[in-house]
Amino acid sequence: MVAPGKGILAADESSGTITKRFEAIGIESTFDSRRDYRQALLTTPGLEEFISGVILYDETIRQSTADGVAFPKLLEGLGIMPGIKVDTGAMPLPGSPDEKITEGLDGLPKRVAEYVSLGAKFAKWRAVITIGDGIPTDYCIQANAAALARYASICQEGGLVPIVEPEVLMDWENDVDRCAEVTKKAHEAVFAALDLHRVALDGIILKPNMAISGKKSATQASVDEVAAATVKLLTSTVPESVPGIAFLSGGQSADVATAHLNAMNKLGPHPWQLSFSYGRALQDDALNAWKGEASNVEAAQAALYGRSKDNSLASKGEYTPQQA
Ligand code: 13P
Repeated sequence: MVAPGKGILAADESSGTITKRFEAIGIESTFDSRRDYRQALLTTPGLEEFISGVILYDETIRQSTADGVAFPKLLEGLGIMPGIKVDTGAMPLPGSPDEKITEGLDGLPKRVAEYVSLGAKFAKWRAVITIGDGIPTDYCIQANAAALARYASICQEGGLVPIVEPEVLMDWENDVDRCAEVTKKAHEAVFAALDLHRVALDGIILKPNMAISGKKSATQASVDEVAAATVKLLTSTVPESVPGIAFLSGGQSADVATAHLNAMNKLGPHPWQLSFSYGRALQDDALNAWKGEASNVEAAQAALYGRSKDNSLASKGEYTPQQA
């Protein structure tokens, strides 16, 4: 999953989320249009050169190409591992409604067994930590860490590699130092919980946010500042036994997400592979090119191929914008 030069495509938007993305560019979201879009992504020629795994959603892992090839089978044939989002979304945290807790533990062992039978090799669970006035609370950080650890232990027991994703959102007016401080706290809680829950750290992938300025902050940290702050934070929190760290993009533009990954890898070597598990930063150009039209599939695939290649280079610290 974290082979050098490879990363993960996050294509696990829930039907609600993908519907919002479709509607933003005037595409109707139906079972078939979602299938057509995911088929366009997954059949991108050469995708396997840069992508080692694709995270799917419950609906998508059960879908097939127009010729009847199940998506997990299609991916396996390309040497790409199918993965599955197993959380059921983030809800208001009881007692602290401006914060979120991720749901989905009920019945999880059974669902994991079913996903394994459908061909999944790994799973994802996203916890959401919000920065704001007086938040995050320790309660939110601890509750989410406990849920992530329960999820990870259930996955390892059931035969899926867990991607552990504690996402600190980048939406507020905080500076990069505040983001780094909150992320450090979240990571410390997550690794303590993983230890308590007997999760084998050499069998997980960490999917963190970068240490980054909030979108509403008047000052935006430079690419080099983000890279330095993120590497410092990870060095202080992530045990060397964790084989791979695959970042989320979290609302960064595609160019910026690639530049950050590249700058971090230029600071290496690191004890873990530093790679990508981007959703929007890999897909945005492709979705905008596709526009719901079969005649645009090639253009969408070219966009995804290009972004995947850029991030593959960035995962080795070899990206220069001219190669885009
Ligand atoms: P973004 O890269 O768009 O943040 O999505 C990654 C993801 O999987 C969020 O859970």
